[in-house]
Amino acid sequence: SENLNEIRKGLVGVVADVSAVSKVMPETNSLTYRGYAVQDLAEHCSFEEVAYLLWNGELPDAAQLADFRKEEASNRAITPALHQVIRAFPHDAHPMDAIRTAVSFLGLEDPDTADTSEPATRRKAMRLLARIPTAIAAAHRASKGQAPVDPDPSLSFAENFFHVVLGKVPAPEVVKAFDVSLILYAEHGFNASTFTARTVTSTGADLHGAVTAAIAALKGPLHGGANEAVMHMLTEIGSPEKAADWLRGRFDHKALVMGFGHRVYKNGDSRVPTMTRYAEKMAEVVGDRRWMEMSRILAAEMLEKKNIHPNLDFPAGPAYHLMGFDIPLFTPIFVASRITGWAAHVIEQSADNRLIRPLSQYTGAAQRELPHR
Ligand code: SDX
Repeated sequence: SENLNEIRKGLVGVVADVSAVSKVMPETNSLTYRGYAVQDLAEHCSFEEVAYLLWNGELPDAAQLADFRKEEASNRAITPALHQVIRAFPHDAHPMDAIRTAVSFLGLEDPDTADTSEPATRRKAMRLLARIPTAIAAAHRASKGQAPVDPDPSLSFAENFFHVVLGKVPAPEVVKAFDVSLILYAEHGFNASTFTARTVTSTGADLHGAVTAAIAALKGPLHGGANEAVMHMLTEIGSPEKAADWLRGRFDHKALVMGFGHRVYKNGDSRVPTMTRYAEKMAEVVGDRRWMEMSRILAAEMLEKKNIHPNLDFPAGPAYHLMGFDIPLFTPIFVASRITGWAAHVIEQSADNRLIRPLSQYTGAAQRELPHR
C-alpha cells in the first residue's frame, strides 16, 4: 500500500478521487469535458450548451437547450437587498472580493440555502450561474459611480455579460470570442479552487459556501488571478521592443512570470491554441496588435530560456482587454464561467462523498510538561 509517510507538498501528483466531469491529458496536451474535446466544444457549441453538458453529462437537444436558456435568462435579476449591499461596498474593493461577498449574500437569501440535496443544489447552481454576472456588473459599475444596467433576458449569456457590464453588446465576432473563453475556462479537474469547493462540500456544507470558498481560492495570482497579472505585465512592458529585456530582468530576480507554467500541463496547456487564435482575432477587430506581438515574444523567450509554456490565462488577459473589459474584471469573468465546473464537482462530491481530511507529519516541539506555577 501507499507509504503513508511520503509527504507530497501541494498534493503534487496525488490522485485524490475519481471524477467523470473532465479529463486533463498532459501526455497528449488535450482536455475533454464529459468526453468531448474542449477545442470542438469551443468552436461548435455555446457556453450554455457546455454548462448543460457539465451538469447533465450529455449535450442538450434543441428543446432542452431552449428550456436551459429560458431558465438561466429568467434568473438573472438580483434583489433590491443585494443591490443595497453592493452599494455599501468600498469603491476600491477588488471585484473578486466583491463577487465573493455577493455570492455569500446570495446564499443568505436563497430559499434553498439549507437544502444540500441534489435537486436543491441544481436549482441553486442555476441561480448562481444567472446572477453572478449581474452582481459582478453592479459592483463594478457602483465602484465607478455608475447605476447598474438591468439584465436583458432576450440576450444570450455572453451578450448579456457585455450588456450589464458595458451597457452595450459588441459585434458578433467579439461575442463569439468571449463565448469561446467561457467554454475554455469552464472546467479543469481538481484545480485548487475546484478542490476547495469539493473539500467544503465533503463536510456536508452547502453550494454557496463551497463557491464562496472557491472564489477566494481562485483570486490568488498563482491560479485565476494570473489573467489580471498578465495584463498588468504587458502594460508594464509597454511595447514589443522592450519585452525580451523585461523578461531578462525577471529571470535575474528568479521572479515568476504570470501566465506561464502549469501544475499538470508540462508541454503546454491544451486550451492555449484556441484562446490565442481568438485573442489574435480581437487584435485584428480592434486594430491594436501590440499586446499579441509582445505575447509572441514573451512566449518564445520563456520556451527558449526556461522551457516553460503559456497557460490559458496568458492569451485570455489581452483578449479581455481588447474586448473592452477593465483588468480587475478578468478573474471575475473566470468565476462566471467556472461556476459551471465548480457546481458539477459539488454535485459529484455529494453523490459519493467521503470527508476530505489529509494528514500532516509533525515537526514541532517534542512533548513537554507545563512549567510549575
Ligand atoms: C490556472 O490547476 C489548474 O488547472 C489551474 C487552471 C485551471 O483551469 O483551473 O489551469 C488555471 O490557474 C493556470 C495557472 C495560472 N498561474 C500562473 O500563471 C502563475 C505562474 N505560474 C506558476 O506560479 C506555476 O507555474 C504554477 C503555480 C502554475 C505551477 O506551479 P508548480 O506545478 O508548483 O511548478 P513549480 O513551482 O514546481 O515550478 C517548477 C519550476 C520552478 O523552478 P525551480 O524552483 O525548480 O528552479 O519551474 C519554475 C519554478 O520556479 N516556474 C516558473 C514559472 N512556473 C514555474 N518560473 C517562472 N515563471 C513561471 N510562471
